[in-house]
Amino acid sequence: MSSTVSRVLPHIQVHSGYVPGEQPLGNQEVIKLNTNENPYPPSPHVVDAINDEISKLRLYPNATSLQLREVIADLHDLEPNQVLVGNGSDDVLNLCARCFADHDHPVGITSPSYSLYSVIASLQHAPLVEVPFEDEFRLELSDLFASEANLFFLTTPNAPSGTVFANDFLSAFHDGFPGIVVADEAYADFAPHNAVGLLAACPRLIITRTLSKSYGLAGLRVGYALGNPRLIEVLNKAREVYNVDRLAQAAAIASILDQSYFRETIGKIKATREKTLDDLRCRKWKTYKSASNFLLTEPRTMSGEVGIEVAENLFFHLKQNNILVRHFPNHPLTSSFLRISIGREDEMIMLKETLNKWTTHE
Ligand SMILES: Cc1ncc(COP(=O)(O)O)c(C=O)c1O
Repeated sequence: MSSTVSRVLPHIQVHSGYVPGEQPLGNQEVIKLNTNENPYPPSPHVVDAINDEISKLRLYPNATSLQLREVIADLHDLEPNQVLVGNGSDDVLNLCARCFADHDHPVGITSPSYSLYSVIASLQHAPLVEVPFEDEFRLELSDLFASEANLFFLTTPNAPSGTVFANDFLSAFHDGFPGIVVADEAYADFAPHNAVGLLAACPRLIITRTLSKSYGLAGLRVGYALGNPRLIEVLNKAREVYNVDRLAQAAAIASILDQSYFRETIGKIKATREKTLDDLRCRKWKTYKSASNFLLTEPRTMSGEVGIEVAENLFFHLKQNNILVRHFPNHPLTSSFLRISIGREDEMIMLKETLNKWTTHE
């Protein structure tokens, strides 16, 4: 056994895998506000699309997801050679690390940020350069430039704050930074703007998107990259051959083509988000304005206390009441906060009632 372990590459021996948010088994009745999934089902057209594909499952899928890439290119007014599809956007982020990071090519991230970035940097044995956020999740361009990373992951809208970077900021970052900038736009469909319009002038910009959040397809695993055809070709070379299966390609096409259903669900989530923001601010809980499908809020007791213990106490109170949210205790910008995904209206009413009970009884 020990000789088997000694064969494992040293950087993999000390590597820690990604720890996903809790996914309860299907038979538990919970209000799941911990992993930013869509509370609504995917487009009803997905059922027919998948049924049509089942009889073809003996055949390999289209290796380059060509038809899906055409649909995505159309959606963003781009060309198919500017699109690469992955098995979730995590697959695409991984490909970026595979192509642009190694022992001599550091990865830059903000601190805090989506914890997968450090995991994929570690798999590449790449040094990690962390640029800390200032108060209120602000970033200084000079700190980003000083990172000297070959590849920088910037989440916009940011997770876990929900705040979005202005396009002027992104293009100034791209122009002053010699490496590859990945704008992870997993939540961009909930935001007032996105960076797609920057692609023409920013040859080292890669935008990543997912169908897990806004299209309600987290269980299917489809994400994509948008960028300069030369960069997309590089990622394409490093991709698994059949990285997106037949069912996923068909369901993704059906979902994207059903833009009226998409707009309806996004509209409902944004309206619920704004109502929830008002409610939390009425409680005098510091809550960031969000351009995504979650809110980062700092719980406050009746006597005005805030802090890591208060956040933890509310986290467990919600859990006891079958409501799952997320607490990130390891960073000063998040330790006294909870991140709450936006659920259906009825789920958020249950949340509100449970918060009221906590405030009056804690
Ligand atoms: C910032 C960010 N990027 C990417 C992802 C992963 O998305 P996917 O489900 O497409 O792998 C998530 C998921 O939570 C996320 O928060």
